[in-house]
Amino acid sequence: MAETLKKLDELVALCKRRGFIFQSSDIYGGLASCYDYGPLGVELKKNVKNAWWKSVVQMRDDMVGLDCSILMHPMVWKSSGHVDKFADLIAECKKCNTRSRVDHLQGAEGDETTHHSHTETQDHTDLSDKVCPSCQSVGQFTEPMPFKLMFETKMGANADDSMTVYLRPETAQGIFANFSNVLNTTRLKIPFGIAQMGKSFRNEVTTKAFIFRTREFEQMEIEFFCAPGTDDDWWEHWKEQRMSWYKDLGIRSENLRFRAHADDELAHYAKACVDVEYKFPFGSGDWQELEGIANRTDYDLRQHQRGMRSLTSWFENKRNTEKATLAQESEEWHKGPLSYFDDEKKQRYIPYVIEPSAGADRGTLAFLVDAYAEEEVRGERRNVLRFHPSLAPVKVAVFPLVKRDGMPEKARNIYNELRKYFTCFYDEKSAIGRRYRRQDEAGTPFCITVDGDTAQDGTVTVRDRDSMEQNRINSDQLLTYLREKLDL
Ligand code: GAP
Repeated sequence: MAETLKKLDELVALCKRRGFIFQSSDIYGGLASCYDYGPLGVELKKNVKNAWWKSVVQMRDDMVGLDCSILMHPMVWKSSGHVDKFADLIAECKKCNTRSRVDHLQGAEGDETTHHSHTETQDHTDLSDKVCPSCQSVGQFTEPMPFKLMFETKMGANADDSMTVYLRPETAQGIFANFSNVLNTTRLKIPFGIAQMGKSFRNEVTTKAFIFRTREFEQMEIEFFCAPGTDDDWWEHWKEQRMSWYKDLGIRSENLRFRAHADDELAHYAKACVDVEYKFPFGSGDWQELEGIANRTDYDLRQHQRGMRSLTSWFENKRNTEKATLAQESEEWHKGPLSYFDDEKKQRYIPYVIEPSAGADRGTLAFLVDAYAEEEVRGERRNVLRFHPSLAPVKVAVFPLVKRDGMPEKARNIYNELRKYFTCFYDEKSAIGRRYRRQDEAGTPFCITVDGDTAQDGTVTVRDRDSMEQNRINSDQLLTYLREKLDL
């Protein structure tokens, strides 16, 4: 019977031991809530992002991609609401001075509010029965206060004319800011979507969640623009698509679910929102958000139309974005610069937006956790990562059985041929059994071994990670065989 991971510490240790994920700045004692991806981790996360891109851009006629800069005009974040409202409510424990997110505090009875959004809807002010996660004191919190989550930096060399800009806290706004650029330079008609993946930054309060919640992370976001009235159907469409993506890439169905946002959790402009949640196996098992799928109505484009009319206020306030005020919406907003003329309907409108917004790091964490198994094989423990072939960091490992009789040369030739097509790994050190185990723990689907028979009949053994069965295949047929098995 295969065992799964039970403790976060086990996962952290495995990720470090096998070179998936390291603490950032480890040699200096680490930087809280920032992580580095090692040789296996960088391949895994790249494969997760590639699989997402293939599914949402490459395989669809109605989607295109975009890659925006991380630094944007600060008024983008005024219009989106981030400058004024993107904050977590926090409270400080009067006993130990630890600051905690109010929506993450547990009651003495063990109840917990599990909202994950940073919105103005967090108004849970009664903390009389809440427990400090650091010193366990009950009801010792200060009044909740907002804690701003955007990282600020300065742009410009001269102290006099430098201005505050923000590290983007989501990739989504770059898509809205480029809506008309994309529309004017492609032949796209509504309904269509724009996808973007890349780094986002948030000065998160809650830490110690490994790569689940970090201060620098990668998002994979879609803004899908559709005609008002068709939005409910498109929301259902994207819910189905996104859930299938996780399942098709090997996450077990019983570990995935949808969780609809409660009314008090829903952003004021959102018509509906559902999270794709994964059941992380730590502790007693905890359902956590991997991705949100929201119907954002026409809110964002309308806000940016307001922002485009507010530049005078921004200049008048000496480019102080916090002081600048957002102009009222024009009466003709539906004909504004971010509106769309629908040829078929002969009508101009602001499109509605469905937003499936996923985390690349959270997805990677879920794929790692779900793939992990500990098994007993002939009295020995085997750790294996059963990654879907398209996610496996290394697809094929090539070994000579021993370091003589021409086996390393033959194995190297095979390795050099196959690496043109797949990520491969060559290893001739240690006993063959140990080399297999190392590749099991790295999640490599196939190991090829050149042995004494290879020189006689041209065959090699191909070992399957999951069944551990070995087949003899003619080395001329390897590429075809592996392509079929890996389905790449
Ligand atoms: N544009 C909408 C948006 O950003 P969100 O729920 O704040 O929505 C979307 O973020 C996804 O980004 C989350 O479901 C999660 O996977 C990922 N994410 C958000 N904050 C994160 C953090 N601090 N660390 C890692 N991933 C994060």
